[in-house]
Amino acid sequence: MAVAGGTTGRIPLIAGNWKMNLDHLQSIAFVQKLAWTLKDARHDFAKVEVAVFPPFTDLRSVQTLVNADDLPIAFGGQDLSEFDSGAYTGEISGQFLKALDTKYVIIGHSERRQYHGESDEQIAAKLAAAHRNGIVPIVCVGETAADLETHGPSAVPVSQLRVALGGAAKGQEVVVAYEPVWAIGSGQPATSEQAQQVCAALRAVVAEVLDDEAAAATRILYGGSVKAANIAGFMREPDVDGALVGGASLLVDEFSSIVRYQQHLGT
Ligand code: 13P
Repeated sequence: MAVAGGTTGRIPLIAGNWKMNLDHLQSIAFVQKLAWTLKDARHDFAKVEVAVFPPFTDLRSVQTLVNADDLPIAFGGQDLSEFDSGAYTGEISGQFLKALDTKYVIIGHSERRQYHGESDEQIAAKLAAAHRNGIVPIVCVGETAADLETHGPSAVPVSQLRVALGGAAKGQEVVVAYEPVWAIGSGQPATSEQAQQVCAALRAVVAEVLDDEAAAATRILYGGSVKAANIAGFMREPDVDGALVGGASLLVDEFSSIVRYQQHLGT
């Protein structure tokens, strides 16, 4: 089981990808309420890490709040440029994210792949940019419904991860998120067995491209229609170390309940 203090030693991570929701004022209210709710529930942040991924325009506000109130909530960007500076209108440099204390950055989300044509090679370059700037990349991989029918569940995410990890710097942390495209926003999550099967295959890719030590240490998240009602099933699987949550991360009580998945494990 992927529980801190369990056999893996990996600290579970529950990450909320807000996508294009909540402006900077709403982000302050949300993060404050999230911190209060989790503190009231006596959440042990050392046992399950919590991170939010607001839009870029919110990050400075979230940073100011988190630093001022010393909140145990990590935050990150939803994307970054593969370049550090220059004539790239509209892009965000890893240097700027680092200057805002962002710990993580999401890379290669399926919505970036689909709507912005991001290739595996570009995602590898973004992973390199994150590492160059001391930010932990959360690399998203996942198959579409058509891929699933043609190739089965593992082939596409495995090949996406193999290319993306080409950008990894030696010894630097990577987080992987398995997000089947057909499960995102559909209300139809993968089964925990499906998630386990693919996450195990992805861990084998980390071992192959990086090394066994990295594979043992790397957290692999599941994402796609995660809710409080289904998180426990995923977290019981040995190769699932957390979740990347979309829609349910916009509801404070629901997201807090996902973070506190240990309370659902007995049910
Ligand atoms: P949903 O949780 O809304 O399915 O979104 C998942 C996702 O894309 C997180 O990055």
